[in-house]
Amino acid sequence: MSSTDIMAERTTAVAETIARIRAIEAAQGVTRPALTAIRTEMLALAAHEALFSSADFPPPPPGEKGAQRYLLSEDQDGRFAMYLNALNPGNETRPHDHTTWAVVVAVDGQELNRVYSRTDDGAIPGRAILRLREEIMVEPSRGIALMPDDIHSIHTTGDRPTRHLHMYGLALEKLDHRVGYDMQAETVKPYNAAYLQPLAKPPAGR
Ligand SMILES: [Fe+2]
Repeated sequence: MSSTDIMAERTTAVAETIARIRAIEAAQGVTRPALTAIRTEMLALAAHEALFSSADFPPPPPGEKGAQRYLLSEDQDGRFAMYLNALNPGNETRPHDHTTWAVVVAVDGQELNRVYSRTDDGAIPGRAILRLREEIMVEPSRGIALMPDDIHSIHTTGDRPTRHLHMYGLALEKLDHRVGYDMQAETVKPYNAAYLQPLAKPPAGR
């Protein structure tokens, strides 16, 4: 298939997936069952590996930290934003929330997700205590769904770069009031966009 054909097929597959996701959210709202249904749609999309090749979506140069983030689709108002994130092994984030729902699935590579519960009552500003609740390995045919207030951290523990599809209820650049946690210091601070700056433009002409 030519790269033009692949681009056209990818555009159609992404648009059809998002249309179904929009319908799920409209019918069910933002609930765990709705996110499970959305995750099923995302897993089906990610299974089309040829549409999301490393040639079209290269990772950062070997050894470089940070994500190469490609915008695949976003509504005019920032809703229903889908990205392809490519990360090298050895990356991790601190625990953070998103303030919108999120579903992440893998085309290739492994990303360990740790999900936390906050156990303090929030009475002391800037203080927070987290407890590890669950570990989920995001890898081909296995994804994660997060409610807006769920807290997770990611760790690319595999031996090759990841190419993961991320779907958010609202584009990352539009999210305010996100928080990040330092488990050792037991603190919570604003988690600003600098942690997840898009380093890449959408793939031009592909
Ligand atoms: Fe995240």
